[in-house]
Amino acid sequence: MKIAQRIETIPPYLFAEIDKKKEEAIKRGIDIINLGIGDPDQPTPNNIIEKLNESVKDPNTHNYPPYDGTAEFRQAVALWYKNRFGVDLDPDKEVMALIGSKEGIAHIFLAFIDPGDFSLIPDPGYPVYKTATLFANGFPYTMPLLEENDYLPDLEEIDEEIAQKTKLMFINYPNNPTAAVANKDFFKKIVKFAKKYNILVCHDFAYSEMTFDGYKASSFLEVDGAKDVGIEFHSLSKTYNMTGWRLGFAVGNREAISALSIIKTNIDSGVFKAIQQAGIEALTGPQDNIEKMNQVYTQRRNIVVNGLNQLGWNLKPIKATFYIWIPTLKGMNSIDFANFLLEKTGIIVTPGIGYGDYGEGFVRIALTVEEKRLEEAMERLKEAGFSSE
Ligand SMILES: Cc1ncc(COP(=O)(O)O)c(C=O)c1O
Repeated sequence: MKIAQRIETIPPYLFAEIDKKKEEAIKRGIDIINLGIGDPDQPTPNNIIEKLNESVKDPNTHNYPPYDGTAEFRQAVALWYKNRFGVDLDPDKEVMALIGSKEGIAHIFLAFIDPGDFSLIPDPGYPVYKTATLFANGFPYTMPLLEENDYLPDLEEIDEEIAQKTKLMFINYPNNPTAAVANKDFFKKIVKFAKKYNILVCHDFAYSEMTFDGYKASSFLEVDGAKDVGIEFHSLSKTYNMTGWRLGFAVGNREAISALSIIKTNIDSGVFKAIQQAGIEALTGPQDNIEKMNQVYTQRRNIVVNGLNQLGWNLKPIKATFYIWIPTLKGMNSIDFANFLLEKTGIIVTPGIGYGDYGEGFVRIALTVEEKRLEEAMERLKEAGFSSE
């Protein structure tokens, strides 16, 4: 048998590779501290679990769900949006349930990219933007996210000819992997750019609620004209510790939502209704767990930022996400540095190159283990003589 070229040219999914390395190290008896994967370590709040328990017993949830999500789920999303961002959404035409936001992010490329079309994607960036472009036989065009630009793309640097051939661009703030945030002025520039070149803007907003020190993230759709050009992808994964439940949603421009729906109706059959009911509970029930979790991440952030700064790094406290993006030690590429760290200290981090060429020279630390283990990690680094000086 002969597999398709589109598979052959795609490197193995980074996190699957890291998992393999972790398993090997565990077999060798190493006490691993895994700071490699952005998966919350805390459980889903109880009210959501209880809602699922109740819903799953109701036979009305057992048949095929509506493709775009139940009317109740879409209404809950619209209400949440109105309360949180002051943005009006038509729950029937501007909201769609997703089997996790990754699913929608991957499929939107099939709805907009024809062979030979370009997508504009951030580098470093969530790897799916690139692979999904390649799956659609398009060309991913990199927008470098550089430290000196606060990890925002420089729109002036985008080649005019490429912009003309671009159908879709992705932005993602709060950002994975750099933890950067964006303000409305930046979003306004994006809207102007998208209107000029007739481009669909996709804002990946998976970390919208994971913010610290009083910072609140703005929705792209808060900006005038944004809904004419864009959609936003959301996830319940990080906000409500629900990564395994697979529930997200897309909102915004109705043509884009409708195009995504055409792809999805031919590929999947929606999200289990009981999970959508639990999702309604998440969005409309008590929200205090979000603040509690953000307090937990703030403490963890402080341990790592202070710990690394004592070793000579020069990191500012991040305002959002549970990632810390740090330069490797001088002269080391990100894979060598990650391997070196694993060998010397048993700590797993993610090599920056996994997020694109501009991720080279960095690694990503995820704050997804408890404080004690993070303190232990900092101690191990100190004992192993790690210093960025
Ligand atoms: C930037 C970004 N977008 C999207 C996702 C996908 O999240 P999910 O499919 O769980 O909603 C992730 C997950 O880590 C992410 O980091």
